[in-house]
Amino acid sequence: MISVNNVTLRFGKKTLFENVNLKFTNGNCYGLIGANGAGKTTFLKLLSGELETSSGEITIGKDERLAVLEQDHYKYDNYSVIDVVLMGNKRLYDIKIEKEELYNHTEFSDADGIRLGELEAEFAEMNGWGAESEAGELLSSLGIPVSEHYNLLSEIEDSHKVKVLLAKVLFQNPDILLLDEPTNNLDLAAIEWLEEFLINYENTVIVVSHDRYFLNKVCTHIVDIDYNKMTLFMGNYDFWYESSQLLIKQIKEQNKKKEEKIKELESFIARFSANASKSKQATSRKKILDKIKLDELVPSTRRYPWIDFKPEKPSGREILTIKDLVYEENGNRILNKINITVNKGDKIAFVGRNNIAKTALFNIIMHLIKFNKGEVLFGKTIKPSYFPIDNTEYFNNDKDIMEWLQSEVNIPDPQELRNFLGRMLFSNEDVFKKVNVLSGGEKARVILSKMMLENPNFIILDEPTNHLDLESITSLNKGLQNFEGEILLASHDHELISTVANRIIEIKEDGTIIDKLSDYDSYLEWRRTFY
Ligand SMILES: Nc1ncnc2c1ncn2[C@@H]1O[C@H](COP(=O)(O)OP(=O)(O)O)[C@@H](O)[C@H]1O
Ligand SMILES: [Mg+2]
Repeated sequence: MISVNNVTLRFGKKTLFENVNLKFTNGNCYGLIGANGAGKTTFLKLLSGELETSSGEITIGKDERLAVLEQDHYKYDNYSVIDVVLMGNKRLYDIKIEKEELYNHTEFSDADGIRLGELEAEFAEMNGWGAESEAGELLSSLGIPVSEHYNLLSEIEDSHKVKVLLAKVLFQNPDILLLDEPTNNLDLAAIEWLEEFLINYENTVIVVSHDRYFLNKVCTHIVDIDYNKMTLFMGNYDFWYESSQLLIKQIKEQNKKKEEKIKELESFIARFSANASKSKQATSRKKILDKIKLDELVPSTRRYPWIDFKPEKPSGREILTIKDLVYEENGNRILNKINITVNKGDKIAFVGRNNIAKTALFNIIMHLIKFNKGEVLFGKTIKPSYFPIDNTEYFNNDKDIMEWLQSEVNIPDPQELRNFLGRMLFSNEDVFKKVNVLSGGEKARVILSKMMLENPNFIILDEPTNHLDLESITSLNKGLQNFEGEILLASHDHELISTVANRIIEIKEDGTIIDKLSDYDSYLEWRRTFY
């Protein structure tokens, strides 16, 4: 159990949390949510002891161990898989490294010999050799084949990296497991694996995530960080969302009624307070008036952008035809004689582990790269707009947001543009931020702004949620559901795909496709049955 008692944290003058009181009890899974910069990562650092509170204290149950799943999947690229797991036991790992270093000496001094003797003794006492086989077993149980245990992390595939980092954490046999955005950079299959793992994990889990499907699946509780406070809710993310919306609505309605009552009383008092016979009544009403208090609607730091794609003209019958498309990179066939006809109303999600192929296909459709064979034809009425996975080229310049958008799309009235940007959460001076210093989430919102201003009837999105927070993802999700044109989408967000797509195309490792006219959940069902 972790108890958080009256905890306050300040960075200089800025208060992140004030007087937080919470208990995390055994066996539950807590989802930690809050806007970008609300302090989720910082809170995990407080729990793990990496940071100290400004006041208040955090206590962990006696003899309970806490471990943190690291966020950076590439940090250990130069270490072997087995070593990374052994690092979970720091002392053991340090001994192992010092031993290896000494054995590598070409000339062996007496001091080296003595030191080695000490190290070997301590290593044996800690059951060092047993630990290595234990680490191996742990890796195998997580699905990392023995043949990879001595590979460098840089040599194994990304979805395996997170399993290695998880093995490192589990090697410590923790009672409390902390995870910060664990699903970033994972493909859908690896996310599904992690979901199952956490559901079956018996100890306490505290996880930061902006993946709604994941939060719904694994969490028993939600901890919401907003306005320097933390509030604990029972239930999963959807339950939190619905109940928090309901609460806001209720407070608003109550306040509206109270405001009407106040007006009524005020006008009574104004009319009769000068009138001697009624002034007694007016005085008593004034007392009532003084007692009415409006419930404070705590201003949320959470802000939802407004995302809405409006086609200038609807698309005609011919949308996009891809015939016998072949694309090769360095002699590898990435796309192998692909045929796709996009029909009216199609919202297609591209899935599969072949990320390179999805991005290549989108870039080919947008005429950004050349292909080897085949045909790619847009219908005459089609006006496409693109959200690329990599936007570095767009923002490699010295323009501010206003200038950048004005150079990309034709909007004569600066005030109109500012109003528009306000709805995309760039207010006041924000619109003059240089595009090359924006955060990942801000850049994504600028690209989405450009796309909306283009008024397309056909949109292509390559991993649009990667840097977005939950609020922006929710708004984008609604915008895509309401969009009346056609969509091609690649995403690792299960909820987004399952609520938007009505056709699923899987690009296989060999560059051919499986094309299913169904929603995502039926496709998954089909895949489980026939694969
Ligand atoms: N060591 C630090 N010193 C000063 N400010 C910090 C420090 N660490 C984080 N911050 C600030 O605290 C806020 C919360 O950061 P963080 O916990 O990373 O947010 P989240 O994970 O919710 O997006 C941010 O505004 C960040 O810039
Ligand atoms: Mg964070």
